[in-house]
Amino acid sequence: MREAAFAELIGPPGVEIRERPAPIPDSGEAVVDVGACSINRHDLWILEGDSAMVDGDDLPFVSGLDLAGTVAEVGDGVTAVAPGDRVVLCPNETCGTCEFCREGPENLCENFSLYHGGLAERALVDADRLVVLPDEVKTTTAAALPTAYMTAWHMLRRADVTAGDRALVLGATGGVGVACVQLLDVLGAASIGTSTSEAKLRRLSDLGCDVPVEVDSPDALRGAVGEVDAVLNHLGGEYTRAALDALRRGGRMVICGRTAGDRSSFDVADLFLNHYRVIGSTMGTQADLERLVELVAAGDLDPVVGEEYDLEDTAAAFADMRSRDLFGKSIVHP
Ligand SMILES: NC(=O)c1ccc[n+]([C@@H]2O[C@H](COP(=O)([O-])OP(=O)(O)OC[C@H]3O[C@@H](n4cnc5c(N)ncnc54)[C@H](OP(=O)(O)O)[C@@H]3O)[C@@H](O)[C@H]2O)c1
Ligand SMILES: [Zn+2]
Repeated sequence: MREAAFAELIGPPGVEIRERPAPIPDSGEAVVDVGACSINRHDLWILEGDSAMVDGDDLPFVSGLDLAGTVAEVGDGVTAVAPGDRVVLCPNETCGTCEFCREGPENLCENFSLYHGGLAERALVDADRLVVLPDEVKTTTAAALPTAYMTAWHMLRRADVTAGDRALVLGATGGVGVACVQLLDVLGAASIGTSTSEAKLRRLSDLGCDVPVEVDSPDALRGAVGEVDAVLNHLGGEYTRAALDALRRGGRMVICGRTAGDRSSFDVADLFLNHYRVIGSTMGTQADLERLVELVAAGDLDPVVGEEYDLEDTAAAFADMRSRDLFGKSIVHP
């Protein structure tokens, strides 16, 4: 089988298409014939050598968390899925024994890790992490869901967003950003979405974003968005400080990323005098993913697939992500 492996952590030129024997499932495992795998900034950071999860000793490394396809083979003891089932993988890897695995939510697992290996024709996975797809949910659509939509859905839950709320989505045109805008709509909340690109903001508006705002720096955010009940923040950096200023008293900010920087400084008195809640959040639960599949099947959510690539063009997919030349999710078809 073919796979897109990271042979060097030097950015897109480090991707190498190579042949490898297909995996064989052990007890509790399944092999999925991968029809689609979406990529995330997380994969790009690995490829650029900017992730603590992968270093030179792990090369060649096959990334790709968000795979969907058809079960090809199952190992002993697998009853949840059978060959021929169309499935999407929940990429959470948890220990099953810690306090959070026992009492939930599972994404707080003390030994939390992520699955990698979807950028290949066949992927070996834990069968219990597969969610079976109803006929209404296409394989490509399902591959858009796990990391971006699951994270966004969990963030909205953590922010207690309800109908009628007004929420600011920073960097609203990528995977997590578009997911937040669409899911706010599902909840009946209004969205204010930011981007540096006028063209991408037009697409965001067509998608139902209530207030698209062109913002090219944290300073430009100040005063540009009015008062909001919640902020969904994957940009981090000084956008964090600027977005706190937009929060109403008692407002919530949920942070899941650091796309624009690791650090922000703010006056702690602003936090306590305004009763702000600033919440960190990572990924979501398998139950969140199952809920998203239901929303798609019911016609309430149509995840945005921006660009699609053949496995041979995986390097180009990452180059487009790096140049910010994308809208929504990018999908690689192995
Ligand atoms: N903690 C978790 O579990 C988790 C899960 C998923 C994602 N994340 C994090 O969330 C972030 C987004 O991931 P993604 O896959 O959605 O990425 P993505 O699709 O590449 O995000 C693109 C968006 O980010 C904006 N952007 C990119 N670089 C920027 C910069 N330097 N300054 C300002 N805006 C910038 C783009 O703005 P323009 O429209 O202006 O180009 C666009 O709106 C990443 O930091 C990722 O690690 C975390
Ligand atoms: Zn655990």
